Amino acid sequence: MPSLSPEPWRVKVVEPIRRIGRAAREESLRRAGYNVFGIASEDIYIDLLTDSGTSAMSDSQWAGLMRGDESYAGGRNFYFFEETVRQIFGFPHVIPTHQGRVAENLLFSTVLKPGDIVPNNTHFDTTRANVEVNGGVALDFVIPEGRQARARHPFKGNMDLGRLERCLAENAGRVPLVMLTMTNNSGGGQPVSLENVRGTREVCRRHGVPLLIDACRFAENAWFIREREAGQSGRSVAEIVREVFSLADGCTMSAKKDGLANIGGFLALRDETWVERFKNKLILIEGFPTYGGLAGRDLEAVALGLREVLNEEYLAFRVGQVTAFGEALARIGVPVVEPIGGHAVYIDGRAFAPQLPPEQYPGQALTVALYLEGGIRAVEIGGVMFGKPDPEHPGREILPDLDLVRLAVPRRVYTNTHLEYVADVIGGVHRSPQSLRGIRIVHQAPVLRHFTARFEPI
Ligand SMILES: Cc1ncc(COP(=O)(O)O)c(C=O)c1O
Repeated sequence: MPSLSPEPWRVKVVEPIRRIGRAAREESLRRAGYNVFGIASEDIYIDLLTDSGTSAMSDSQWAGLMRGDESYAGGRNFYFFEETVRQIFGFPHVIPTHQGRVAENLLFSTVLKPGDIVPNNTHFDTTRANVEVNGGVALDFVIPEGRQARARHPFKGNMDLGRLERCLAENAGRVPLVMLTMTNNSGGGQPVSLENVRGTREVCRRHGVPLLIDACRFAENAWFIREREAGQSGRSVAEIVREVFSLADGCTMSAKKDGLANIGGFLALRDETWVERFKNKLILIEGFPTYGGLAGRDLEAVALGLREVLNEEYLAFRVGQVTAFGEALARIGVPVVEPIGGHAVYIDGRAFAPQLPPEQYPGQALTVALYLEGGIRAVEIGGVMFGKPDPEHPGREILPDLDLVRLAVPRRVYTNTHLEYVADVIGGVHRSPQSLRGIRIVHQAPVLRHFTARFEPI
């Protein structure tokens, strides 16, 4: 499974991982109610649950922790952090938060009125939840190709500009802002083109509505623009990032992704209209505006991570590694969402296990099998996560269009050999469909059930 380019680092510290035996994995699954969220991470061999907060920090970031200034107000790390965000994104007002969803909370709890509409290419779950909890309506306008597992389009995260235009025309006064999530996590980690950001900006400008970017994976998105968009290959990633954000009025950010840090986030804005209200709310829920729920040392690690993530050798390796992993799976016949996204490979559970009816949650069945067969933790993004009771057929559920299993690749953590091992295990399960058993839910919470549900193999 050759990646396009080798790792642009060498290893200085190692963290041992272990593969417990099959009987122990069976017992661990049984105790967790066949829900991989309930398994202790020590019992996981390769953990592909998420790319969020799981990055390996560099020696420079670890050294930065020692420079933490833990003053309550005006700590030096904040000024370095603020200057970094201003330089990279071009927004003068920078509000630190301890993770991305707090930036969303500040934004939507301040600017939304009940009944307001927020269009997005695709809302990530925390974004949608923050819109809805504040009485808003979250609408997803990703282009049609973005909803199809196999449609080949270089920018499947693009906003459908026609639908956005109609929405703004029909709901004048009810749309306080438009969002664009890049890359589009809930839609397979697919990028948004620069041309589409320009188009979205133009529609927003005509209707006088601000555009905010969910910037979690801004560097990976810019890398795709450079690689795939006509006329962009000669530009630096930093330049592309500057142009993308020059088209927006602000951004929310979880630094647990392209901040290469284990915690952190921010809200950044061009205009000061909302800033005072955001800061007042920040003081209430996070802390003083020069630390925003973070230690000074964390601000330092995030600032350094934001600078490091723009390194093009790093991005070539990073995106190349995820692509090579996905292509290795596709080559052995595993049905994956294509083209491969920036931070994860997504397997189409229903195509992987056509022998299982959708009501038996094929994605969850595969997730369980991957742990049992190889100690690998993935996450189901399908019927378990999004299924809802069907009001017309008691006892049945309305299931989502896709039943996916996401294999998220943490940044700078696993080698290609680790991912070859994962591909081998998946190949083995694919060749022996009898190793997959349908799943039934035996216990579930009323909201966000996938985190705590308990299951039984059928
Ligand atoms: C696109 C997107 N937006 C927002 C968030 C929320 O960030 P956090 O987990 O830091 O609250 C995530 C996290 O996975 C995400 O992927």
